[in-house]
Amino acid sequence: MSDMQTIQWFPGHMTKTKRQIQASLKLVDAAAEIIDARIPVSSRNPELNKLIQNKPRVILMNKCDMANQTATKMWIDHYARQGVTALAVDCKSGRNLNKFPAAVGAVLKEKTDRLKAKGMKNPTMRIMIVGIPNVGKSSFINRVAGQNRAKVEDRPGVTRGNQWFTISKNLEMLDTPGVLWPRFDDQIVGEHLAFTGAVKDRVVDTELLAVRLLDFLRRLKPAEFISRFKLEETDLDATPSYDLLQMIGKKRGMLIAGGEIDTERAAIMLLDEFRAAKLGRITVEMPGGELK
Ligand code: G4P
Repeated sequence: MSDMQTIQWFPGHMTKTKRQIQASLKLVDAAAEIIDARIPVSSRNPELNKLIQNKPRVILMNKCDMANQTATKMWIDHYARQGVTALAVDCKSGRNLNKFPAAVGAVLKEKTDRLKAKGMKNPTMRIMIVGIPNVGKSSFINRVAGQNRAKVEDRPGVTRGNQWFTISKNLEMLDTPGVLWPRFDDQIVGEHLAFTGAVKDRVVDTELLAVRLLDFLRRLKPAEFISRFKLEETDLDATPSYDLLQMIGKKRGMLIAGGEIDTERAAIMLLDEFRAAKLGRITVEMPGGELK
């Protein structure tokens, strides 16, 4: 698990982060916001729009290998209707990462055209990565910059220490991502972040979290979930989630002394399997059902 997951956000820390990101944003022409394709609402920073202001932006729906393909497509259409370019990517396999430079080029076209009209031949554009912890920012940078090991030298006007990678002709990326905080004030957001493992289990009660996940799964009824736990004969609508957790524990032989079911172990197993997409490619948040 990423070290970033252990970040604790305090007001002072948030102010400092905001200032640092604002300083980095001054150096770039566009921002790429990485989100988790399974939770496109909860994996966004609540203040990002304010921070980025009118800078062109690309949304990278990462971990699309674990999200429902139809849902991801619906989200991309949803963003397109808002005039925002989004790309589904998967940093595990590298899927679609080759489309990133063109997507950035498209959102920066107006700017590059303007500069070209002023006589600049091939203006170089710069971009930075932003996102909350655990969405895959480091994986993305390693993958994209990894193929372009030769770093661009520091130049005057660039904060010392910043490294830029040439990721395509006339496009450079800042090597360090802007790490932002998620929302704290919404219980549902907290739960969804915990489902995916973006926040640590110890801050939430594992059994309660598993029950909340089962509340969701028994409504959605993903085929892999049903077959994996042999729930074909179970009336999911009529079975309370805690009973379902017990059934799952029993089916997996998770017993403690006295023949009782070890629901704690069952909860951990359920969450692990969900996080590894073994219960199916599941998107938890759909467009339209956006949280307030
Ligand atoms: P961050 O910088 O935004 O905090 O995220 P990071 O790249 O550290 O990624 C967090 C976790 O998500 C890592 O797993 C990483 O491998 C995984 N990940 C990133 N992108 C993808 C993706 O597109 N698909 C899938 N399936 N997983 C992705 P980890 O368990 O924390 O570490 P490890 O398994 O890589 O050792």
